[in-house]
Amino acid sequence: MSGLDVALQGKAFAGRAVLGPIAFRLAPGERACLLGPSGIGKSTLLSLIAGLDDDYDGRIDPGAGRLAMVFQAPRLLPWRTLARNIALVPGAGGMDRARALLARAGLAEAADHYPEKVSLGMQRRAALCRALAVDPGLILLDEPLVSLDPRAADQMRALLRDSLDQTGAAALLTTHDRREALSLCDRILEIDGSPARLVRDRPSPLSRRDRLDPDRVEAALRAMF
Ligand SMILES: Nc1ncnc2c1ncn2[C@@H]1O[C@H](COP(=O)(O)OP(=O)(O)OP(=O)(O)O)[C@@H](O)[C@H]1O
Ligand SMILES: [Mg+2]
Repeated sequence: MSGLDVALQGKAFAGRAVLGPIAFRLAPGERACLLGPSGIGKSTLLSLIAGLDDDYDGRIDPGAGRLAMVFQAPRLLPWRTLARNIALVPGAGGMDRARALLARAGLAEAADHYPEKVSLGMQRRAALCRALAVDPGLILLDEPLVSLDPRAADQMRALLRDSLDQTGAAALLTTHDRREALSLCDRILEIDGSPARLVRDRPSPLSRRDRLDPDRVEAALRAMF
């Protein structure tokens, strides 16, 4: 199965170049992080990969399999319960599957609640469940842990890890936080500059097991940056 193949030459908004040359491939099942400072163009690149914007120079092939995107704001429909937000996705498998996905995310009790009645962390996890419902080959996540308190971030991190382990989906997530990148990913792609380009593409020194240990993450952080 082919994975994501990005060969971007440039992306501009109203004549202002935001992204420059950025090229990388992601193998099926690989977990990579797009790391860069605020405002650099991370969300823009994700939306190009997701096919939400095709106004760019270059070529992006999302690879075989379905693609799912989890936005920074959970974007759940406020007039539907968490379970119905998921069940409504074409191919999601209906309410039983929605409840099963939510239960796995620790949200069994919240399945019939409306989004505004649950915390941001719970909404984020429900949004991840909605992405998983289509059995994607590639999941794009924009700042999955941002604005979560430490406990909610741990829950989201665990759900993401377990879901990716179980489904074998590849993931590309964005963050401005090096520690977060090391706690989640096999590989770290750093973008910087104006227009932003890929400045470093490095494998994580941590195994999937080692990155669960905050001390090892701390040591890797010091060694790498
Ligand atoms: N639709 C748009 N029209 C014009 N400019 C835009 C548009 N979307 C993004 N930009 C600009 O492109 C640049 C990159 O924005 P982007 O949101 O991709 O950055 P980011 O790395 O995701 O930032 P953050 O860490 O704050 O989420 C910014 O200067 C932003 O103002
Ligand atoms: Mg962004």
